[in-house]
Amino acid sequence: MSTQKTETVQGQDVGPTGRPVRQFPEPAPLDSHGPARVIAMVNQKGGVGKTTSTINLGAALAELGRKVLMVDFDPQGALSAGFGVNPHELDTTVYNVMMDRKVDVHEAIRSTEFENMDLLPANIDLSAAEVQLVNEVAREQVLSQALRKVKDEYDVVLIDCQPSLGLLTVNALTAADGVVIPLICEFFALRAVALLVDSIEKVQDRLNPDLQIDGVLATMFDSRTLHSREVIARIIDAFGDKVFDTVIKRTVKFPDATVSAEPILSYAPTHTGSVAYRELAKELIERGGAR
Ligand SMILES: Nc1ncnc2c1ncn2[C@@H]1O[C@H](COP(=O)(O)OP(=O)(O)OP(=O)(O)O)[C@@H](O)[C@H]1O
Ligand SMILES: [Mg+2]
Repeated sequence: MSTQKTETVQGQDVGPTGRPVRQFPEPAPLDSHGPARVIAMVNQKGGVGKTTSTINLGAALAELGRKVLMVDFDPQGALSAGFGVNPHELDTTVYNVMMDRKVDVHEAIRSTEFENMDLLPANIDLSAAEVQLVNEVAREQVLSQALRKVKDEYDVVLIDCQPSLGLLTVNALTAADGVVIPLICEFFALRAVALLVDSIEKVQDRLNPDLQIDGVLATMFDSRTLHSREVIARIIDAFGDKVFDTVIKRTVKFPDATVSAEPILSYAPTHTGSVAYRELAKELIERGGAR
């Protein structure tokens, strides 16, 4: 079942991107795990769906048998809270792993109640890292170094960034093989993206030449409004093929799933929101963005 059809043009189903609706192939099961491809979910604008997309893309990849590590890289700890973890009760987080060389990353990683999904949590301690890292040797590479030890154990690592382009986000971009940019379907959201692309290019030039933009994910799309459709057209103008065919619609089921601290894929498995993130996972694999 596709959730993407918005209209039929000359007998062909067309999605919100204006492209014909495609069925993505079911990816072949993996017979071994690792090394992981690392994907940073980045947009310095707040509330665009980074955390929601990390949880649900992660859940969809896990359903496909991929071993997924989700890294909470936001001092607000929304990703951790999204899995029912109380950020204030955590002893060891990504912060300790980064700032104390004696802390092994395995000490901080927790399994979740969902198969194939592990979490490297964060809490407000991480807000100190931005300042403390300034004096570190190779301060942009600290997360990359920390993740190196676990890369072989996973197929995909998803880093949920905070809404900023500061040193933590630069660490995520330096650790990543690819970037997924969740972009809310509102005009003023487009303005922020030029600055984001500029940051990505600087990291490519100076720190991580292999970094790729895996895709731009349109989120909170409302097919009933002309506004949403116009914004998608502008996003396609700016990013062309980098825009995922899969578009995430606006639905209250996402906040509902957040309240119940689980992915929408388990909260409402057949809901269009769940179907869309499953399609995104398949599209990402088809594009080579994940194993
Ligand atoms: N497709 C959607 N439809 C409706 N609501 C959504 C959708 N995706 C996310 N939301 C809701 O919008 C809010 C912001 O989403 P989310 O936390 O994923 O964004 P974010 O980019 O991680 O925000 P921040 O920058 O603050 O970390 C949340 O309440 C979430 O439940
Ligand atoms: Mg977030």
